[in-house]
Amino acid sequence: MVFIMTFIIGVVSQKGGVGKSTLSRLIAREYAAANWNVKIADLDISQGTSFNWQSRRLARGILPEIAVERFGTVDQALKVAGHYNLLIIDAPPHSTSGTLRVAKASNLLILPTGLALDDLEPTVLLAHELVKSGVPKDRLVFVFTRVGDSEAELLEARNYLAKAGYAALQHGLPEKVAYRRANDEGKALTETRFASLNGQADRLAQEIVDALQQVSEPEAA
Ligand SMILES: Nc1ncnc2c1ncn2[C@@H]1O[C@H](COP(=O)(O)OP(=O)(O)OP(=O)(O)O)[C@@H](O)[C@H]1O
Ligand SMILES: [Mg+2]
Repeated sequence: MVFIMTFIIGVVSQKGGVGKSTLSRLIAREYAAANWNVKIADLDISQGTSFNWQSRRLARGILPEIAVERFGTVDQALKVAGHYNLLIIDAPPHSTSGTLRVAKASNLLILPTGLALDDLEPTVLLAHELVKSGVPKDRLVFVFTRVGDSEAELLEARNYLAKAGYAALQHGLPEKVAYRRANDEGKALTETRFASLNGQADRLAQEIVDALQQVSEPEAA
C-alpha cells in the first residue's frame, strides 16, 4: 500500500506526568507494527523521556523499531513530518504557546487526563482555550489515564467532561506497575508480560486509530 498523506497526532496536557509520553509510544508502536512509517517528535528536550525510552528499546533489540527524534520547537518537528506517514508530537509538560501550534497542526489531539478534579479542571480549561482559538472540537480526544478501581470515580469524571461539552474515549489506561515497568524496559503498553494488560492497551490504541480515521475521512473521500 502506498501512503500519500502524512498524519499528525499531538499529545498535550496542562499538567505533567499524565501519560503523554506513554500514550505517544503506544500509538507509535501500534502504527509501526502495521508497517506505517512513524516518528515520535519528542519536544521535551529537558527530559528527553521518549528519546531515552527509544535508547532502552534499541539496546534490548525490541521490534518494531520506533524512530524518535528530539526537537526544540514545534515548527522544527513539522518540517520533517512529510517524510513520515505519521508524526506523533509528544509535548512537554505544561501547556505553552507551542501547545496551540501543536493543536492547530494535528489531525487528532490527544488530551490525557487523570480522574481527579485537580487533573480534569486544567484539562477542560486547556480544551476550552484551544477551541476558542479555532481548533475544531472534533479533533480533541480525551483519554483517562492512571485509572483506579473505582467505577464511581470514572463515572463522575465522565459526567464532568460531559457537562463541559466533551467526551472521553471508552477505554482508559489503568494505573499498573506492569505498564510502568514496560516503559522502563523500552516497551510499549501492548508489550507487557500480561496478555490482559496488552489487550486493554490495544483496545485503547484501536479507539485512537478509529478516531484518526474518522477525522480524516472527509479529506480521503
Ligand atoms: N497507566 C500507568 N500505570 C503506571 N504507570 C504509568 C502509567 N502511565 C504512565 N505511567 C508512568 O508514569 C510516569 C509518567 O508518565 P509519562 O512520562 O508518560 O507522563 P508525561 O505526561 O509524558 O509526563 P511529562 O509531563 O513529564 O512529560 C512514567 O514513569 C510512566 O512509566
Ligand atoms: Mg512526557
